[in-house]
Amino acid sequence: MPSPFLTPGVNAGADTLALLHLRRDQIMPTILRTYDDQNEGYSEGKVSNTRFGSFPHSTMIGQPWGSQIAASKVDTGSRGRKATKRKADDLDESTPGADEETAASFKQPVTASSGFLHMTYPTPESWTLSLPHRTQVVYTPDYSYILHRLRARPGCTVIEAGAGSGSFTHASVRAVFNGYPGGEPATKKQRLGKVCSFEFHEQRALRVREEITDHGLDGLVEVTHRDVYEDGFLLGDPKTGRSPQASAIFLDLPAPWLALKHLVRNPESGESPLDPNSTVYLCTFSPCLEQAERTIRTMRKLSWLNISMVEVQHNRIDVKRERVGLDAEGVRGATVFPRTVDEAVNKLRTDEQRAKRFRLAHMDGEEQFAAAKDDEKEKAAAAAAAQGPPVPVYNMGRLTHRSEPELRTHTSYLVFAILPRDWTEEDEQRCRQKWLSDIAELPEGQSGKSNKQMKREFKALRIKEEQEKKAQAKQDAGVEPAANPETKEL
Ligand SMILES: C[S@@+](CC[C@H](N)C(=O)[O-])C[C@H]1O[C@@H](n2cnc3c(N)ncnc32)[C@H](O)[C@@H]1O
Repeated sequence: MPSPFLTPGVNAGADTLALLHLRRDQIMPTILRTYDDQNEGYSEGKVSNTRFGSFPHSTMIGQPWGSQIAASKVDTGSRGRKATKRKADDLDESTPGADEETAASFKQPVTASSGFLHMTYPTPESWTLSLPHRTQVVYTPDYSYILHRLRARPGCTVIEAGAGSGSFTHASVRAVFNGYPGGEPATKKQRLGKVCSFEFHEQRALRVREEITDHGLDGLVEVTHRDVYEDGFLLGDPKTGRSPQASAIFLDLPAPWLALKHLVRNPESGESPLDPNSTVYLCTFSPCLEQAERTIRTMRKLSWLNISMVEVQHNRIDVKRERVGLDAEGVRGATVFPRTVDEAVNKLRTDEQRAKRFRLAHMDGEEQFAAAKDDEKEKAAAAAAAQGPPVPVYNMGRLTHRSEPELRTHTSYLVFAILPRDWTEEDEQRCRQKWLSDIAELPEGQSGKSNKQMKREFKALRIKEEQEKKAQAKQDAGVEPAANPETKEL
């Protein structure tokens, strides 16, 4: 089953995770089912109940992602009577169309007069906001930065410990995804991106594993129940297991320094979990500085380089123009209040004079009163004209900014480090051959030739050398070298 996180398609399918958006900050995750897996006894099959009404899954399955779904009047008649179990397990899987039969046996929902929600496919970001919290989680502002610094890209293998509530797991699998297991890789050489997740707490490990299956991420995420301080990061058996060959590692553990001894190129016991052909990028996540310091000390001893610490202080800033003043009457969002004492006194004076004029005009009769009114309007128009051309709305008032208060994140000190790959004499030779390093070694200006010219000559030299080598090899094997066509003609 394709994962709705990676390839959601156009319509919501059955047995897929869908997010029900009740409001901007209220998201309800649910697996869409054609059968009543909770055995709740609704006549309409599985129903999600929200504060905005009841939503039978049959009204959502098959609808395009992003649709607005109207609430339904549901029949709760059979509720509480422990209806006949209609669990998926009870269906005879060998019977084709068993699901359709069950779905057909449910009542057609009737649309309610009010209430709706929007149904969207899950993303790591929305999942982080809606997942059932079992632990403190890594939020989007942190994991987006972490994955960028870890160079997590399609085809990478990421090690993660501990899995916790699976927030980072979902973000990292999207970052490394480049195809499903069993599918065609883009090139023969390309590895499939994978996340190897380790969790010490048995229940949490089980829960993350269940979620991974429900979310169609089996084969892309491998969850291991393990104490990584003791047993390291090999897959399968801790001593003799397979190496995940990871090039990116994220440790969200109470004591990351205790796990670092396993993240070396040549461990004393067993294989290294690191990719031997690539630089390895590591990040640890600690809520206090003392932990970060201890991790850094251990990293230095184990030859990690480029060690740096970052605290992500992600703030969304709300920038707007704030208008205060008595002249802002009727302007949307403005505060109608005197800016200064002078403005307040002037206002009182003009109000008083105006009232006086009107009182006098009223005493002089209706006509005088109407003329006074017109006179008032003319004066106001003249005052506005005297102020010059109107200020455009976007330029009115004082420019202010405020940071959005409710952005979810928590204090974290992120320590990053790099472990270069082992470099042997063979690697050096291979690179010298491949990258023509001899040119760079010529003393500057000695040849008097351009780089392009030198490269061309060097390439020609190499081709000639190879041809000579081949000819020599044939000669050694007793094969007559082919006659030079030019010599033949002569
Ligand atoms: C803060 S939570 C991780 C949250 C996770 N990164 C997320 O985004 O949801 C830390 C997890 O590390 C696990 N843990 C602690 N010590 C461990 C160990 N020695 N080996 C493996 N996991 C461990 C805990 O059980 C806990 O679930």
